[in-house]
Amino acid sequence: MKTISLEELENKLTAAGQAHLLRFWPQLDDAGRERLAAEIMAIDWGQVSRMQQLIAETGPGESRGDIAPAPVARIDAAETQRSRREGHAALAAGKTAVLLVAGGQGSRLGFDGPKGAFPVGPVSHASLFEIHARKVLALEKSCRAGIPFLVMTSRANDAQTRAFFERNDYFGLTPERVWFFTQGMLPAMLPDGRLILEAPDRLFLAPDGHGGVLAALKRVGLLDKLAAHGVETVFYFQVDNPLAQIADPVFIGFHRRQRARMSLKVCVKRSPDEGLGVVAVRGGSNVIIEYTELTEDQKQAREHDGALRFGYGSVAIHVFSLDFLAQQAERELPLHRAYKKIPVCAENGRTEMPASPNGFKFERFIFDVLPRAERVALVPFEREHEFAPVKNATGEDSPDTARAAMIRRFAHDLREAGVDVPRDAAGMPRFAIEIDPLYAADASELRRKLPPEFRLNGDIYLR
Ligand code: UTP
Repeated sequence: MKTISLEELENKLTAAGQAHLLRFWPQLDDAGRERLAAEIMAIDWGQVSRMQQLIAETGPGESRGDIAPAPVARIDAAETQRSRREGHAALAAGKTAVLLVAGGQGSRLGFDGPKGAFPVGPVSHASLFEIHARKVLALEKSCRAGIPFLVMTSRANDAQTRAFFERNDYFGLTPERVWFFTQGMLPAMLPDGRLILEAPDRLFLAPDGHGGVLAALKRVGLLDKLAAHGVETVFYFQVDNPLAQIADPVFIGFHRRQRARMSLKVCVKRSPDEGLGVVAVRGGSNVIIEYTELTEDQKQAREHDGALRFGYGSVAIHVFSLDFLAQQAERELPLHRAYKKIPVCAENGRTEMPASPNGFKFERFIFDVLPRAERVALVPFEREHEFAPVKNATGEDSPDTARAAMIRRFAHDLREAGVDVPRDAAGMPRFAIEIDPLYAADASELRRKLPPEFRLNGDIYLR
């Protein structure tokens, strides 16, 4: 790398109003100076000024305009059959890849390690990664085809994530088909527009959001690699949902049959105040409106039949056409700001965590590509069967609620397969139940596999 003089650095930073980034320079050793200089040289100044504009905005930003609920697909039994056939054919022909975004910091869960390594299996204590990987493996077996499994990490968890897969023999997957890649990082900003030093020789940087997946896929050449492998359709999901029905053939097939550019699984919101983003139409385009952006009237509005007008939420389970992703990777996604606690380097050179929020972090969201998709399909699903996110350490959307949802889901499949599942007084299955995806993916497979004499009389892990 070309070395840069202190004077050049000073000039650059003074012009940008960021001279404070050099305040520890005299105390730094050569390695520290080199490191800090490299970070400063890598700053995208156009982006910094967009961040400054963004934090200067006081209101909700752009005027929201009128919104209407986006139409949700009605998929009858015949269409389900046709979509399933199409989805299976696309999987079997190697036209589908699975994309997992796992670069988040998981700060709410507070687990020491990548969130994907969190043990969530109610009986097996299998990790989220293991549960996802075994579903991909089960699908590869049932379709008799290899499915590229892309895992996005971030700088903070990349090495740990790779090591976790290696230590666990990739959970049975073929390592050559598990493609790790790392998302980008963005600086944070004080309310006065200054970038933040975390240590004397280091800027504070945070992962650039799940929307960073587009730029990252392009940067490492994975979009081309997927195309070269004949992939046309990409199933996208997030690491924290152990119930995700990975590469659901009906979902994939419906997306393809509709010639959609992006499809979203949507479920009925539990209440007006549930924090899911809703899909709406604004100015002729589909958009995700975050819960915080709905007015109270919009949140509470009901249709004649009593259903919430903006009643369908997106749970970040999507299907994309590869060429749409490639097209969108050429364009920047907008930045979003969030006021957060950010560690700063104090005058004594130590890193200090403030007691309350002190600055803005920035992220890009994958769903910001939605308005740019000419054709979109919204596919409804039963949330209790496919959505149980692990977000918080306790309470709502926690490991406890996710495990309970898994047990209910497996109990439902067992009942469908004709097994008597005893319940407790609260209606919950009396025993902990878990089914390895390789044992059975659904009730019909269970019915074929379970021995006729099978009885449920204790905790069980079917594998
Ligand atoms: P969340 O928005 O729940 O964030 O991510 P998080 O980082 O996991 O958790 P908190 O907010 O710090 O508690 C939803 C999904 O998007 C991924 C996460 O790994 C998760 O699968 N994600 C999020 C990324 O891959 N990169 C990011 O920069 C942010």
